[in-house]
Amino acid sequence: MDLDETAARLGAPVEDVDRVHRLAGDLPSAPLPAKADAPALLARLAVRPDDAAEIMAGWPDTGSPLWTPELRWLLDRSIALVRADLGGHGWLEPGPELPRERGHAWRHLYVYAYLALIDVVLRYHRDHGIADAVSWATLADLGRNLAIDRRMHREGWPVMQSWLTLHTRGGVYELGRLQHQRGGTAIGLHVPASGPMTPEAVDSSLDEAHAFFPRHFPGERYTAFSCGSWLLDPQLREYLPGDSNIVRFQQRFQLEPYEEPEGLDADVEVLRFVFRTLNTPLDQLPRRTVLQRAVVDHLKAGRHWQWHRGSFPL
Ligand SMILES: CC(C)(COP(=O)(O)OP(=O)(O)OC[C@H]1O[C@@H](n2cnc3c(N)ncnc32)[C@H](O)[C@@H]1OP(=O)(O)O)[C@@H](O)C(=O)NCCC(=O)NCCS
Repeated sequence: MDLDETAARLGAPVEDVDRVHRLAGDLPSAPLPAKADAPALLARLAVRPDDAAEIMAGWPDTGSPLWTPELRWLLDRSIALVRADLGGHGWLEPGPELPRERGHAWRHLYVYAYLALIDVVLRYHRDHGIADAVSWATLADLGRNLAIDRRMHREGWPVMQSWLTLHTRGGVYELGRLQHQRGGTAIGLHVPASGPMTPEAVDSSLDEAHAFFPRHFPGERYTAFSCGSWLLDPQLREYLPGDSNIVRFQQRFQLEPYEEPEGLDADVEVLRFVFRTLNTPLDQLPRRTVLQRAVVDHLKAGRHWQWHRGSFPL
């Protein structure tokens, strides 16, 4: 196969296409669910009707003219690549970034990969005795992320694409208010955008995790909960009231000494999570909440936000 030509046709960087080619080799792929079952599956994955309609319209039917041989190759090899790391819990590099404006097949290629891996990961969950309710709550993060992608006018996709491979590898579980990522000796905490994060909801999610991991992953030993986030930036305390949920979340953690994280700009991440836009001028951002006003005023004063890591014993 001519990688330069494939990359040119995909409108993607040749290094990224080459990486897929090398890593996926001829590893086994997995089939997509039957198209007739897809609407019910998408609903179960909390995919909203507008996103579901696009996914159905771009479906990779045999012979569909939307699906060039290069796109089919990338879909098949992306599935194989993620599948090969079933049970993994590290971050995978996002696949080649496609010109998503070319149409539904291009826009949602990695969604089709996610759908193909549902059966694979459900089998993995069942092998670990995980209840269906946890499986579906976890996997329904797809719909939430697609809605954010739409709201962000497709600006933030590579991050979501990489994140969503954790779900299809059995690396992350949604237990009540928080998502819990396996790995090392600490359970990594993630906070989905699903309304306020009250201390009671956080406590109850941590309690669930206490029972969940020893039961379903008895070979893994966790001694702490950890988190890496803009939410742990102590500077937020200059602006937020002491009884706000974010400050109370921070109080649980012992922070690691601050180090600028590699390849991550905390100002950009704060804009992503607080405004769902990365390139709106500061003057045009909404100032509806105390946090929104804080974020803008802080940046306008020439200061920067930080991405901290912290943990607390399990
Ligand atoms: C984490 C999250 C649930 C916290 O929200 P919360 O429980 O309302 O937090 P607080 O009680 O501390 O909020 C304090 C103030 O900030 C506002 N606020 C909090 N998070 C906000 C957000 N993401 N965008 C805009 N305003 C926000 C609240 O409305 C409140 O302001 P108000 O009193 O003027 O209404 C929320 O920020 C969120 O959904 N974030 C997106 C997901 C995310 O960031 N995950 C972590 C990724 S690393």
